[in-house]
Amino acid sequence: MPLPEDVAVLVEDVHKSFDDVHALRGISFSAPRGTVLGILGPNGAGKTTTVKVLSTLIKPDTGRAIVAGHDVTTDAAAVRRSIMMTGQYAALDDTLSGRENIELFGRLMGLDKKAAKTRANALLEEFDLADTGKRPVRGYSGGMRRRIDIACGLVVRPQVVFLDEPTTGLDPRSRQGVWSLVQALKAQGITVLLTTQYLEEADVLSDNIIVIDRGTVIAEGTSDELKARTGGSYCEVVPMDPSQLLLVADALGELLPAANRSDLGPDAVRLSVPAPGGASTLSEILRRIDSAGIDLADIALRRPSLDDVFLTLTGHSHPGDERVPAAASTGPDLS
Ligand SMILES: Nc1ncnc2c1ncn2[C@@H]1O[C@H](COP(=O)(O)OP(=O)(O)O)[C@@H](O)[C@H]1O
Ligand SMILES: [Mg+2]
Repeated sequence: MPLPEDVAVLVEDVHKSFDDVHALRGISFSAPRGTVLGILGPNGAGKTTTVKVLSTLIKPDTGRAIVAGHDVTTDAAAVRRSIMMTGQYAALDDTLSGRENIELFGRLMGLDKKAAKTRANALLEEFDLADTGKRPVRGYSGGMRRRIDIACGLVVRPQVVFLDEPTTGLDPRSRQGVWSLVQALKAQGITVLLTTQYLEEADVLSDNIIVIDRGTVIAEGTSDELKARTGGSYCEVVPMDPSQLLLVADALGELLPAANRSDLGPDAVRLSVPAPGGASTLSEILRRIDSAGIDLADIALRRPSLDDVFLTLTGHSHPGDERVPAAASTGPDLS
């Protein structure tokens, strides 16, 4: 079947099992060329397995996967020439500088000495690493390493880049660095598949998001669409005296849906109020509580977290906890 020109990645009903663990159970999605697709899901959802199938590191049991126009099963070599995966070349040489690592990698990919140098310079410039690139890799922060690692993979310009949880374990500043890198890739027309456990990350970077759980796609859309399904922003209100919760509820009037009110158990200490207007809803809530003369211990505007998304989509907040068999959750961490 011919594939539309503008589709960079197409996955159709892919299954993959490891013995009795069904890692992928009929996963399907697509990513248009030049876009960032966020793949969101908890530990064990099947993110890494999906990325490994698409980058030809493992074969699907059944189903079809096309990357940059090539079938991963029948044309794996062509797929490999069109992609880049982080961590694949994680063996950066600690004694060499970032620049030398990129040059070395260029030589390994068949560039001559001059071309490798030119390419390394361009990449370091592009990713704002020109100065740091001179120092040995051994002194780099985790975030810097990851950027050099990604730069190595860009020596030969790929059509599709897979980033598997590129910011897990990084501090916020390094995370920011990886984010701007993803934006730079997109600006060059490269298609990026980014797996993450953080809704915020998918939110900032992705054109489209798929949420996967237990090896299938359980929701897809833009981040706004997903948030709308999750109920959008809400305001959390904590009165100084928990026994005043019902007074707070009264003061809020129509701002508090009946369902949220009836959720209040005897031990409740906080109230969640939908805040469709964001900060302006927050200030209206504050105004009403203030005129009722109630003291607050805390009030905050919250956006839905990944947990909220899962709670809404699956009805339970920690899908990973229930995964059978036990061996699956104690198995090697492949992320
Ligand atoms: N090589 C393997 N052998 C056995 N089980 C595996 C293997 N790779 C992944 N799994 C299992 O498949 C499921 C999906 O794993 P994975 O794709 O790594 O999830 P994620 O990256 O979303 O955390 C998990 O239950 C995991 O334990
Ligand atoms: Mg993983």
